Amino acid sequence: MKRVNVAIMGLGVVGGGTYDILTGNHDHIKRTQGVDIRVKKVLDRDRERVLGRGVPESAFTDSIDELAADKDIDIVVETMGGVEPAKTFIIRMLQSGKSVVTANKELISKYWYALEPVAKANGVGLYFEASCVGGVPIIRTLTESMQANRVCELYGIINGTTNYILTKMTEDGSSYEAALREAQQLGYAEFNPTADVDGFDAMYKLSILSSLAFHTTVPYGNIYREGITRITAEDIKSARDLGYVIKLLAIGRRENDRVEARVHPTFVPVDHPLAGVRGSFNAVWLTGDYVDDIMLYGRGAGARPTGSAIVSDVVFCAKRKTHEYTDFGIAEKADSHIEFATDFSSKYYLAVTACDRAGVLAAVTKILGECGVSIRNILQKGGEGEYAPVTFLTHTAKEKSVMTALEKIDKLESVRSIDSCIRCL
Ligand code: HSE
Repeated sequence: MKRVNVAIMGLGVVGGGTYDILTGNHDHIKRTQGVDIRVKKVLDRDRERVLGRGVPESAFTDSIDELAADKDIDIVVETMGGVEPAKTFIIRMLQSGKSVVTANKELISKYWYALEPVAKANGVGLYFEASCVGGVPIIRTLTESMQANRVCELYGIINGTTNYILTKMTEDGSSYEAALREAQQLGYAEFNPTADVDGFDAMYKLSILSSLAFHTTVPYGNIYREGITRITAEDIKSARDLGYVIKLLAIGRRENDRVEARVHPTFVPVDHPLAGVRGSFNAVWLTGDYVDDIMLYGRGAGARPTGSAIVSDVVFCAKRKTHEYTDFGIAEKADSHIEFATDFSSKYYLAVTACDRAGVLAAVTKILGECGVSIRNILQKGGEGEYAPVTFLTHTAKEKSVMTALEKIDKLESVRSIDSCIRCL
């Protein structure tokens, strides 16, 4: 039976989960997959942490040179996170003839173009199923199950932390701040939650997923990004009153050579399957020209689900004699024939606070009309005092037209503030 030796770089939450699966399910994997996979080395700065997880002392190392020189190591798992030193270490491992499995979405999104050629030149594999949507097998689905199709659309909830926060706000009426604190206490959100709440994590994942789905480089710099930090309890309540829930969606579309990629809070109709994706769960919706719609659902983060995706890559890699790379040749910049949408169409939820007197709504709706934004629903709430909150749902309109209209509305003396502008699915 084929024997494969693995090293793990970084025994934090995900590295630890990977170690547990590789050791705990060793016999099951050996019996069902026909490969005997052993963890030979664990590289970490913190010896006590490693030994505390039950790793034998002989397997511990804090030397990347030792890993590079060890000819018996076939596959290296990178679970350190961040760009450096992960990037330098991965390049070193690939150059030493070892395949790499990583969960690092920021690194893959930013430096995939630099890593893939090194893997190719050395005839080794570079696998990153765990970088996107945790335990949900989205990358393998795109690369191994959708070959018959042109994927024209991909959208979903691909960040668990923000979905947890938005679910708490929706179901318990929590404020954004309280829901974030709870997410931090549960270990979903970091002490500095920017990567999640400002949409960076979802943007990196969308860059990877849409590149694979659309067979062309979708650089993260070409993705429109907006996080959830401005979502208020009032937005959540308005959404519910209008038959929606708010979700942070990542949306990718390709039509001929036009690609659209964006991450932003979105009004999702309550009867849409994505509306029922609660807490830290994730889900991705794919549309292929022949298969039609597919939805994948599961845990997008955590030691066990992410470890499961890593081990799946380890097994996939261990069973292969040769490795495959992107058919389109991932690059630093987008292909010159690809046009990235700077304008797109959507329905919108808009909220303004305006003087509660005759003619004010007429002035606002006049601007919307002049900008080609057609109104589907208007609701004024309250109006006891001088100002009243007014919300609008629009029919499908152009993003640029809506932004132009909002700029003009903001300048009206009778409008105190533009409170919200949220796109609708
Ligand atoms: N922080 C991510 C999330 C998990 O909340 O979904 C890792 O990408």
